[in-house]
Amino acid sequence: MYLGMDVGTSSVKAVLVDDAGAVIAIAARELALSHPAPLWSEQDPDAWISAAIGAVDDLAAAHPRETAAVRGIGLSGQMHGATLLDADGRPLRPAVLWNDGRSHAECIEMEQKCPALHDIAGNLAMPGFTAPKLLWVAKHEPETFKRVAKVLLPKAYVRYRLTGEMVEDMSDAAGTLWLDVGRRRWSEELLQATGLDSSHMPRLIEGSDVSSVLSHELAQRWGMADGVVVAGGAGDCAASAIGLGAIAPGDAFLSLGTSGVLFRVTDRFAPAVGSAVHAFCHALPGLWHQMGVMLSAAASLAWLSDVMATPAPALLAPLGEAVDGPSPIKFLPYLDGERTPHNDAAASGAFVGLRGASGRHAMVQAVLEGVAFAARDNLNALASASSEIKEVDFVGGGSRSALWAQICADVLGIPVHRVEEGEVGAALGAARLGRLAATGEKPADVCTRPRRLATFTLRASARAAYDDAYHHWRKLYPVLKEF
Ligand code: XUL
Repeated sequence: MYLGMDVGTSSVKAVLVDDAGAVIAIAARELALSHPAPLWSEQDPDAWISAAIGAVDDLAAAHPRETAAVRGIGLSGQMHGATLLDADGRPLRPAVLWNDGRSHAECIEMEQKCPALHDIAGNLAMPGFTAPKLLWVAKHEPETFKRVAKVLLPKAYVRYRLTGEMVEDMSDAAGTLWLDVGRRRWSEELLQATGLDSSHMPRLIEGSDVSSVLSHELAQRWGMADGVVVAGGAGDCAASAIGLGAIAPGDAFLSLGTSGVLFRVTDRFAPAVGSAVHAFCHALPGLWHQMGVMLSAAASLAWLSDVMATPAPALLAPLGEAVDGPSPIKFLPYLDGERTPHNDAAASGAFVGLRGASGRHAMVQAVLEGVAFAARDNLNALASASSEIKEVDFVGGGSRSALWAQICADVLGIPVHRVEEGEVGAALGAARLGRLAATGEKPADVCTRPRRLATFTLRASARAAYDDAYHHWRKLYPVLKEF
């Protein structure tokens, strides 16, 4: 039995996976997010710990025998978040998250200070990444910066509290802008550009390697044997790929969770900074990936549901499983700025084309379509970065909606496959990494593809209308940027 834990933005999910690879139980504990100032996005690192321990407590209470049989644990987590620890390993301030946009000026500073940044880190400096956040803290909270002894990403902080060890895997480390992504080691040059050195970083390992073992105290609490290994794990995007069996060059998926991700596996470090595509390490040795990232995907629908005081399923139900053609209203999903392709933390969301007769359904549809159009921007960005993506598995909370899957197929023009366990992909991937660390099996034997539940394809009747709508939608961002 294996345990996977995904430290997400809206919840921590824990799954138990049996020796046949099936998910047998899922538990989740919610997390709160705080926005203390415009563009800021923070979380209390200790809230991740209570949620992670609470989720496994729930599994242990409901499935004591299976939880006791766990031999390997894997961790996945929201990427990029800066968790600043003092010399005693205590958080110095709330963690600054992946969707925090405050460090725009520091990105420009980093790009100027470090001409080799794109070649070493494989990415543009973006406020979402970890390094510029540290420059911001150095400038605006110098007393805190002086006390920084270690910087951990969210799941590495959870690992530290589960095992006592500070260790990071390559896929998550790649999102810091401190990693030499091609060589898979910390870059002193990039660290120096933010006033740090490798002593501030955790030890690096591959996602499928053993990082440490679960503490005696937690093993007892959950009825497990001593010595349960904890794998390196992965950032949530690479973990989802492992859950989907996306481990061969060219394999691709689209995830609509809080953020949106279009991910493709590569067999080499392949930076493509031109259209703000990310180039990171994969969670297995010798593999990398490219991805386009949208900051508000299912988050856009969650926002609308909040504003309309109506749960998302109730907003979606009246639209059925397919719409005839595009909504007359257009929506830009840049509620938290955007990474790919615009790299613009200050971009904002917009509804365009409202009329007196516009109703709720057209607005809901516009939100689903706006996210799908942004995904098409990402598809184009990845196509220009190397080759075209010909089909995608569809995962994340958004994949629960057949309507959204059909809209994505109509807008992207490629087959979109809904798959089994598509909503717990990252936690499942984490559990698989836990298994690889515990057993040393071959990745291809463990990271199999999930069963496809349904395939959505471009409908000829909708093609021209969606092409037109996308081209109109694309014109909006450059115009609205001025505002
Ligand atoms: C990826 C990214 C997001 C977070 C969300 O670069 O920032 O997908 O990992 O969990």
